[in-house]
Amino acid sequence: MARPHIEPFCDRDVNFKGMRLPGFAPGMSYKMLSFDVDTGACSMTVQLDGGYRQKPGFSWSEYEMMVIEGELQVGARTCRKGHYFFVPAGYSMPEISSAQGCLLLMMYNSGEPSHEEATEHHALAQTDLYHDVDSYLDIPWVVGNITKPSVASGCMIKLLNYNPLSHAMTFLYCMTPAFYQDNISYHDCAEESYHLWGTSWMMQFGEIPTGGYFWRPAYINHGAFASEFGCIALGRTDSKLFNYFHYNPWSNPVENADRAEARIYQRDPLLYKWMLSKDHNHPHSPKDFEQTMVRRGDELGHDTKHKSDGHRHDHWHGHHHHDHDNEHHHG
Ligand SMILES: [Fe+2]
Repeated sequence: MARPHIEPFCDRDVNFKGMRLPGFAPGMSYKMLSFDVDTGACSMTVQLDGGYRQKPGFSWSEYEMMVIEGELQVGARTCRKGHYFFVPAGYSMPEISSAQGCLLLMMYNSGEPSHEEATEHHALAQTDLYHDVDSYLDIPWVVGNITKPSVASGCMIKLLNYNPLSHAMTFLYCMTPAFYQDNISYHDCAEESYHLWGTSWMMQFGEIPTGGYFWRPAYINHGAFASEFGCIALGRTDSKLFNYFHYNPWSNPVENADRAEARIYQRDPLLYKWMLSKDHNHPHSPKDFEQTMVRRGDELGHDTKHKSDGHRHDHWHGHHHHDHDNEHHHG
């Protein structure tokens, strides 16, 4: 998700634009929060007018959706503010409508917004990944220490989605009134936040009010933090969240990344040396045998030959793998 750093930004400062992409019903308007020009992935505040009606169908992109205000009718169900949806690509949703209109947060993760009319899921949709929940009423707050070292007490979370491979997360978080944290933080992941209600403050970027938003790439200092009256926000990371805390407001992203690398060297020295072997650089990311192994059923006419799966590649860098005798030498 190669999106630029957007911070500070508040969607209340810009106007809605009409959604004109083919497939979407009239009466939908949006404010673009962040946008990946390579893939079309984006996050938007979306307003559905009263009487809006969208026929059943799926998106070619995975997306996540949260009701901010108002009521959204999804098939026979009425979904109110705080209702969260994780919708895999190709997963057909029932008719969506709103009698009085509503405000949504929509996040298209793998491609530009699209709507393909359909009453059945696409044949390749990973339908088991779909889930939705009333996050305000049906999930309890837990202390925000699922990552350690942790944020200060008084920042609570509700986990909404978790990717077991990348450790990417979607979560609600709140800061209790009079919350503060006096250190500075950065991460190896990009971090995104939309303030559903309330105001928090950060040393570098000032106040984030209701409707405030950021998309923050890795290794950018943020903090200290405070919230006078509390706030509730939707947060996301695009990979594993690790809190590198420090007290140096002058360090830059390159220095922060170097420090993160030094932490790996100190914590996992053998892994570090293996990854940095000069004759073993994998330009398309290393192979995860669990994702590339031959499985039962693969032989039944499915084409499992290498196209471009991001893991296998031609070895252009002057050594050969000897799978048959398990020898693998590095200089
Ligand atoms: Fe952070």
